[in-house]
Amino acid sequence: MIRIERLGFTYPDGTRALDNISLNFEDGSSTGIIGANGAGKSTLVNHLNGYFLPMEGSVSIDGMNFCKNNLDRIHQQVGLLFQNPDDQLFMTRLYDDIAFGPENLGMNPGEIKTLAEETLLDLNLWELKDKSPSHLSQGQKRFAAFATILVMDPQVIVMDEPTSDLDPKNRRKLINLVRSLHKTRITVSHDLDFIWDTCEHVCIMNKGRIAAEGPARQILSQRDLLESNNLELPLRLQGM
Ligand SMILES: Nc1ncnc2c1ncn2[C@@H]1O[C@H](COP(=O)(O)OP(=O)(O)O)[C@@H](O)[C@H]1O
Ligand SMILES: [Mg+2]
Repeated sequence: MIRIERLGFTYPDGTRALDNISLNFEDGSSTGIIGANGAGKSTLVNHLNGYFLPMEGSVSIDGMNFCKNNLDRIHQQVGLLFQNPDDQLFMTRLYDDIAFGPENLGMNPGEIKTLAEETLLDLNLWELKDKSPSHLSQGQKRFAAFATILVMDPQVIVMDEPTSDLDPKNRRKLINLVRSLHKTRITVSHDLDFIWDTCEHVCIMNKGRIAAEGPARQILSQRDLLESNNLELPLRLQGM
């Protein structure tokens, strides 16, 4: 389980981005984090894989504290899908991007090959394995970035705006992929229909705090609550 306790964060320019956040993510749970621009979502996400270490309060996974000495283990247990896939893919051949994580863990070449090939096949990326990631379409890049995370088999997957660059067909593919994963999932998104389809729980963030949390469909169908946090009903509920 991931436990966040009284987490606070202030940027060097004095912006208070997180203020006294306490949240628990149970094993196997799926949580959507929603909120208007500037609410603090990305700052929170950056604390979930050790990119930022807690300045105030704490973050832990199965009792292991997020601190400098544990960074390797944190990265192994929490996979972060960046908002922009270009930040995740940096090799000249897709295969090498997929193999990079396992290589870094010091696995033997046979294991790495098996894992990388399985992951490419699972995500329907096999035909693209020798292409340069920079030549892939936005949708292909999104699934390629996902593959670099899944190949590591993390316990927790954190996704920052995973649908922002997807067409409807790829968005549907991503919904099916995400729903098939038996992992703890934390998703930040403005796509409240995606959250509706993939998350059991929802937290609304506003000005660095948790403004509301609860069962996803209960929170996502409260127009007044959403509007008071500068959000709108999911499209599927608009016009009802
Ligand atoms: N590097 C930074 N330096 C100063 N302020 C920042 C920085 N990054 C984000 N902020 C501020 O922190 C607050 C939360 O930002 P962010 O976590 O990016 O929100 P969200 O992802 O919900 O849009 C905002 O007021 C934003 O302007
Ligand atoms: Mg953000």
